[in-house]
Amino acid sequence: MDDLERLADEIRDAETVVAFTGAGISAPSGVPTFRGDDGVWERFDEGQFAYGRLQRDPAGFWADRVDLQRELFDGEFEPNAAHEALAAMGRDGDLEAILTQNTDGLHGEAAEAVRDGETDDGHAGEPTVLELHGNSQRVRCTDCGKRRNGEPIFERAAEGELPPTCDCGGVFKPDVVLFGEQLPGAVIQRARSLARESDVFLAIGSSLVVEPAASLPRLAASTGATVGIVNLGSTPRDDIAAVVSRADVTDALPRLRALVAE
Ligand code: APR
Repeated sequence: MDDLERLADEIRDAETVVAFTGAGISAPSGVPTFRGDDGVWERFDEGQFAYGRLQRDPAGFWADRVDLQRELFDGEFEPNAAHEALAAMGRDGDLEAILTQNTDGLHGEAAEAVRDGETDDGHAGEPTVLELHGNSQRVRCTDCGKRRNGEPIFERAAEGELPPTCDCGGVFKPDVVLFGEQLPGAVIQRARSLARESDVFLAIGSSLVVEPAASLPRLAASTGATVGIVNLGSTPRDDIAAVVSRADVTDALPRLRALVAE
Protein backbone atom coordinates (compact mmCIF):
# COMPACT_ATOMS: atom_id res chain seq x y z
CA MET A 1 0.00 0.00 0.00
CA ASP A 2 1.58 3.34 -1.00
CA ASP A 3 1.24 6.76 0.66
CA LEU A 4 -1.78 7.90 -1.31
CA GLU A 5 -3.58 4.57 -0.79
CA ARG A 6 -3.06 4.92 2.98
CA LEU A 7 -4.33 8.50 2.84
CA ALA A 8 -7.37 7.42 0.80
CA ASP A 9 -8.21 4.81 3.44
CA GLU A 10 -8.06 7.47 6.16
CA ILE A 11 -10.30 9.79 4.12
CA ARG A 12 -12.88 7.05 3.49
CA ASP A 13 -13.09 6.42 7.27
CA ALA A 14 -13.16 10.14 8.17
CA GLU A 15 -16.16 12.24 9.16
CA THR A 16 -14.53 15.58 8.34
CA VAL A 17 -11.81 16.14 5.75
CA VAL A 18 -10.32 19.62 5.28
CA ALA A 19 -7.84 20.70 2.58
CA PHE A 20 -5.46 23.64 2.93
CA THR A 21 -3.84 24.89 -0.27
CA GLY A 22 -1.07 27.25 -1.31
CA ALA A 23 0.42 28.61 -4.53
CA GLY A 24 1.68 25.16 -5.58
CA ILE A 25 -1.84 23.97 -6.45
CA SER A 26 -2.18 26.83 -8.95
CA ALA A 27 1.37 26.54 -10.36
CA PRO A 28 0.27 23.99 -13.01
CA SER A 29 -2.34 26.58 -14.13
CA GLY A 30 0.53 28.99 -14.85
CA VAL A 31 0.11 31.14 -11.72
CA PRO A 32 3.62 31.90 -10.42
CA THR A 33 4.43 30.70 -6.90
CA PHE A 34 5.91 33.09 -4.36
CA ARG A 35 9.09 31.26 -3.38
CA GLY A 36 11.55 29.09 -5.24
CA ASP A 37 13.70 29.90 -8.30
CA ASP A 38 11.17 31.87 -10.36
CA GLY A 39 9.06 32.91 -7.36
CA VAL A 40 7.25 36.23 -7.43
CA TRP A 41 9.33 37.51 -4.50
CA GLU A 42 12.47 36.99 -6.62
CA ARG A 43 11.11 39.65 -9.01
CA PHE A 44 9.15 41.94 -6.73
CA ASP A 45 9.89 43.27 -3.24
CA GLU A 46 7.14 42.31 -0.78
CA GLY A 47 7.44 45.80 0.75
CA GLN A 48 6.13 47.38 -2.48
CA PHE A 49 2.73 45.83 -1.68
CA ALA A 50 2.58 46.31 2.08
CA TYR A 51 -0.45 47.98 3.64
CA GLY A 52 1.82 50.71 5.07
CA ARG A 53 2.92 51.67 1.54
CA LEU A 54 -0.71 51.89 0.36
CA GLN A 55 -1.35 54.33 3.22
CA ARG A 56 1.90 56.30 2.69
CA ASP A 57 2.12 56.31 -1.11
CA PRO A 58 -1.16 55.10 -2.68
CA ALA A 59 -0.16 56.21 -6.22
CA GLY A 60 3.17 54.36 -6.06
CA PHE A 61 1.52 51.27 -4.51
CA TRP A 62 -1.01 51.12 -7.35
CA ALA A 63 1.59 51.74 -10.08
CA ASP A 64 3.49 48.63 -8.85
CA ARG A 65 0.31 46.64 -8.16
CA VAL A 66 -0.77 46.98 -11.81
CA ASP A 67 2.51 45.29 -12.85
CA LEU A 68 2.07 42.54 -10.26
CA GLN A 69 -1.57 42.00 -11.21
CA ARG A 70 -0.58 41.56 -14.87
CA GLU A 71 2.07 39.04 -13.85
CA LEU A 72 -0.05 37.14 -11.33
CA PHE A 73 -3.63 37.37 -12.38
CA ASP A 74 -3.91 38.16 -16.04
CA GLY A 75 -7.28 36.43 -16.07
CA GLU A 76 -6.07 33.73 -18.49
CA PHE A 77 -5.62 31.15 -15.73
CA GLU A 78 -7.94 28.13 -15.56
CA PRO A 79 -8.46 25.63 -12.74
CA ASN A 80 -6.29 22.52 -13.24
CA ALA A 81 -6.90 18.82 -12.53
CA ALA A 82 -5.91 19.31 -8.89
CA HIS A 83 -8.51 22.05 -8.29
CA GLU A 84 -11.08 19.90 -10.09
CA ALA A 85 -10.24 16.81 -8.02
CA LEU A 86 -10.80 18.74 -4.77
CA ALA A 87 -14.06 20.23 -6.07
CA ALA A 88 -15.25 16.76 -7.09
CA MET A 89 -14.32 15.36 -3.65
CA GLY A 90 -16.45 18.13 -2.17
CA ARG A 91 -19.35 17.28 -4.43
CA ASP A 92 -19.00 13.59 -3.49
CA GLY A 93 -19.20 14.48 0.20
CA ASP A 94 -15.57 13.49 0.82
CA LEU A 95 -14.28 17.02 1.52
CA GLU A 96 -15.85 19.49 3.93
CA ALA A 97 -13.85 22.62 3.15
CA ILE A 98 -10.95 24.07 1.22
CA LEU A 99 -8.91 26.70 3.09
CA THR A 100 -6.70 28.49 0.61
CA GLN A 101 -3.94 31.09 0.85
CA ASN A 102 -4.32 31.67 -2.87
CA THR A 103 -6.08 34.80 -4.10
CA ASP A 104 -6.51 33.64 -7.72
CA GLY A 105 -10.11 32.47 -7.28
CA LEU A 106 -9.42 29.14 -9.07
CA HIS A 107 -10.96 26.96 -6.32
CA GLY A 108 -14.17 28.95 -6.61
CA GLU A 109 -14.19 28.52 -10.38
CA ALA A 110 -13.61 24.76 -10.03
CA ALA A 111 -16.37 24.51 -7.38
CA GLU A 112 -18.72 26.43 -9.68
CA ALA A 113 -17.94 24.01 -12.49
CA VAL A 114 -19.18 21.12 -10.33
CA ARG A 115 -21.85 23.15 -8.45
CA ASP A 116 -24.78 21.55 -10.28
CA GLY A 117 -23.03 18.22 -10.40
CA GLU A 118 -24.87 15.30 -8.82
CA THR A 119 -23.14 12.22 -7.47
CA ASP A 120 -24.84 8.90 -8.19
CA ASP A 121 -26.58 9.03 -4.81
CA GLY A 122 -27.99 12.40 -5.81
CA HIS A 123 -25.78 14.22 -3.34
CA ALA A 124 -25.29 17.65 -4.88
CA GLY A 125 -22.93 19.78 -2.92
CA GLU A 126 -19.77 21.75 -3.04
CA PRO A 127 -16.89 22.22 -0.62
CA THR A 128 -16.84 25.43 1.40
CA VAL A 129 -14.00 27.55 -0.04
CA LEU A 130 -12.44 29.90 2.51
CA GLU A 131 -10.05 32.43 0.93
CA LEU A 132 -7.81 33.23 3.91
CA HIS A 133 -5.91 35.92 2.02
CA GLY A 134 -8.87 37.28 0.03
CA ASN A 135 -9.34 37.40 -3.72
CA SER A 136 -7.24 39.38 -6.22
CA GLN A 137 -10.08 39.50 -8.72
CA ARG A 138 -11.86 41.98 -6.40
CA VAL A 139 -11.06 45.41 -4.92
CA ARG A 140 -12.46 47.02 -1.77
CA CYS A 141 -12.80 50.69 -0.81
CA THR A 142 -10.63 51.59 2.20
CA ASP A 143 -13.25 54.14 3.30
CA CYS A 144 -16.76 52.74 2.71
CA GLY A 145 -15.67 49.07 2.45
CA LYS A 146 -17.64 48.47 -0.77
CA ARG A 147 -16.31 45.50 -2.80
CA ARG A 148 -16.15 45.69 -6.61
CA ASN A 149 -15.02 43.47 -9.48
CA GLY A 150 -11.32 44.33 -9.81
CA GLU A 151 -10.91 44.19 -13.60
CA PRO A 152 -12.29 47.65 -14.52
CA ILE A 153 -10.52 49.23 -11.57
CA PHE A 154 -7.17 47.69 -12.55
CA GLU A 155 -7.78 48.97 -16.10
CA ARG A 156 -8.40 52.49 -14.77
CA ALA A 157 -5.16 52.29 -12.77
CA ALA A 158 -3.25 50.96 -15.82
CA GLU A 159 -4.60 53.95 -17.77
CA GLY A 160 -3.16 56.33 -15.18
CA GLU A 161 -5.80 56.75 -12.44
CA LEU A 162 -3.33 56.38 -9.57
CA PRO A 163 -4.69 55.55 -7.11
CA PRO A 164 -8.14 54.45 -8.40
CA THR A 165 -10.85 55.86 -6.14
CA CYS A 166 -14.35 54.83 -5.11
CA ASP A 167 -17.46 56.96 -5.77
CA CYS A 168 -17.24 57.93 -2.09
CA GLY A 169 -13.74 59.37 -2.71
CA GLY A 170 -11.95 56.61 -0.82
CA VAL A 171 -8.91 54.80 -2.25
CA PHE A 172 -9.46 51.24 -3.48
CA LYS A 173 -7.25 48.38 -2.31
CA PRO A 174 -6.97 44.87 -3.79
CA ASP A 175 -9.38 42.71 -1.74
CA VAL A 176 -6.49 40.68 -0.35
CA VAL A 177 -4.65 40.58 2.97
CA LEU A 178 -1.62 42.80 2.36
CA PHE A 179 1.68 42.41 4.20
CA GLY A 180 1.29 44.22 7.47
CA GLU A 181 -2.46 43.60 7.53
CA GLN A 182 -4.16 41.17 9.91
CA LEU A 183 -6.30 38.36 8.52
CA PRO A 184 -9.96 39.12 9.35
CA GLY A 185 -10.54 37.58 12.81
CA ALA A 186 -13.70 35.75 11.77
CA VAL A 187 -11.91 34.10 8.83
CA ILE A 188 -8.98 32.79 10.85
CA GLN A 189 -11.33 31.63 13.67
CA ARG A 190 -13.40 29.68 11.15
CA ALA A 191 -10.24 28.18 9.63
CA ARG A 192 -8.99 27.17 13.08
CA SER A 193 -12.27 25.54 14.05
CA LEU A 194 -12.34 23.58 10.77
CA ALA A 195 -8.75 22.42 11.40
CA ARG A 196 -9.72 21.33 14.95
CA GLU A 197 -12.83 19.49 13.70
CA SER A 198 -10.98 17.68 10.90
CA ASP A 199 -10.24 13.95 11.08
CA VAL A 200 -7.97 14.29 8.01
CA PHE A 201 -6.14 17.56 7.20
CA LEU A 202 -4.53 17.82 3.77
CA ALA A 203 -1.85 20.49 3.20
CA ILE A 204 -1.38 20.89 -0.55
CA GLY A 205 1.08 23.00 -2.56
CA SER A 206 2.25 25.19 0.29
CA SER A 207 5.69 25.81 1.78
CA LEU A 208 3.82 26.23 5.11
CA VAL A 209 6.03 29.15 6.18
CA VAL A 210 3.48 31.96 6.39
CA GLU A 211 1.58 32.32 9.67
CA PRO A 212 -1.11 32.09 10.90
CA ALA A 213 -2.09 29.69 8.13
CA ALA A 214 1.05 27.57 8.57
CA SER A 215 0.00 26.65 12.13
CA LEU A 216 -3.20 24.97 10.93
CA PRO A 217 -1.64 21.54 10.23
CA ARG A 218 -0.19 21.39 13.75
CA LEU A 219 -3.54 22.51 15.22
CA ALA A 220 -5.32 19.74 13.30
CA ALA A 221 -2.76 17.15 14.46
CA SER A 222 -3.12 18.36 18.08
CA THR A 223 -6.80 17.37 18.04
CA GLY A 224 -6.09 13.94 16.54
CA ALA A 225 -6.32 14.58 12.79
CA THR A 226 -4.26 12.61 10.32
CA VAL A 227 -2.16 15.18 8.42
CA GLY A 228 -1.30 14.48 4.78
CA ILE A 229 1.09 16.77 2.87
CA VAL A 230 1.22 16.86 -0.93
CA ASN A 231 4.07 19.17 -1.92
CA LEU A 232 7.08 19.01 -4.24
CA GLY A 233 9.31 20.80 -1.74
CA SER A 234 9.95 19.93 1.92
CA THR A 235 8.04 21.89 4.56
CA PRO A 236 8.60 22.64 8.27
CA ARG A 237 5.51 20.53 9.05
CA ASP A 238 6.66 17.31 7.35
CA ASP A 239 7.53 15.88 10.77
CA ILE A 240 3.92 15.93 11.99
CA ALA A 241 2.46 14.45 8.78
CA ALA A 242 1.37 10.80 8.67
CA VAL A 243 1.76 10.92 4.89
CA VAL A 244 4.11 13.14 2.83
CA SER A 245 3.72 12.84 -0.92
CA ARG A 246 6.49 14.57 -2.90
CA ALA A 247 4.30 14.51 -5.99
CA ASP A 248 2.94 17.01 -8.48
CA VAL A 249 -0.55 18.07 -7.41
CA THR A 250 -1.96 17.30 -10.85
CA ASP A 251 -0.84 13.66 -10.47
CA ALA A 252 -1.50 13.15 -6.76
CA LEU A 253 -4.94 14.71 -6.31
CA PRO A 254 -6.83 13.10 -9.21
CA ARG A 255 -5.33 9.77 -8.11
CA LEU A 256 -6.28 10.41 -4.45
CA ARG A 257 -9.83 11.25 -5.48
CA ALA A 258 -10.09 8.09 -7.58
CA LEU A 259 -8.75 5.96 -4.70
CA VAL A 260 -11.27 7.52 -2.27
CA ALA A 261 -14.13 7.00 -4.73
CA GLU A 262 -13.22 3.30 -5.27
N1 APR B 1 2.88 20.20 -7.25
C1 APR B 1 3.15 20.12 -5.90
N2 APR B 1 3.77 21.11 -5.20
C2 APR B 1 4.16 22.21 -5.90
C3 APR B 1 3.94 22.35 -7.29
C4 APR B 1 3.27 21.28 -7.96
N3 APR B 1 3.01 21.34 -9.29
N4 APR B 1 4.47 23.54 -7.69
C5 APR B 1 5.00 24.12 -6.58
N5 APR B 1 4.83 23.32 -5.52
C6 APR B 1 5.19 23.61 -4.11
C7 APR B 1 6.57 24.19 -3.95
O1 APR B 1 7.51 23.14 -3.70
C8 APR B 1 6.40 25.11 -2.73
O2 APR B 1 6.81 24.46 -1.53
O3 APR B 1 4.30 24.62 -3.69
C9 APR B 1 4.90 25.38 -2.65
C10 APR B 1 4.56 26.86 -2.88
O4 APR B 1 5.10 27.58 -1.79
P1 APR B 1 5.02 29.18 -1.81
O5 APR B 1 5.44 29.68 -3.14
O6 APR B 1 5.71 29.64 -0.56
O7 APR B 1 3.46 29.49 -1.70
P2 APR B 1 2.59 29.55 -0.40
O8 APR B 1 2.95 28.49 0.59
O9 APR B 1 1.17 29.56 -0.85
O10 APR B 1 2.96 31.01 0.18
C11 APR B 1 2.20 31.45 1.27
O11 APR B 1 3.17 33.64 1.14
O12 APR B 1 3.84 35.58 0.13
C12 APR B 1 2.81 34.98 0.80
O13 APR B 1 0.57 35.66 0.55
C13 APR B 1 1.57 34.90 -0.06
O14 APR B 1 -0.20 33.27 0.09
C14 APR B 1 1.22 33.42 -0.04
C15 APR B 1 1.96 32.92 1.17
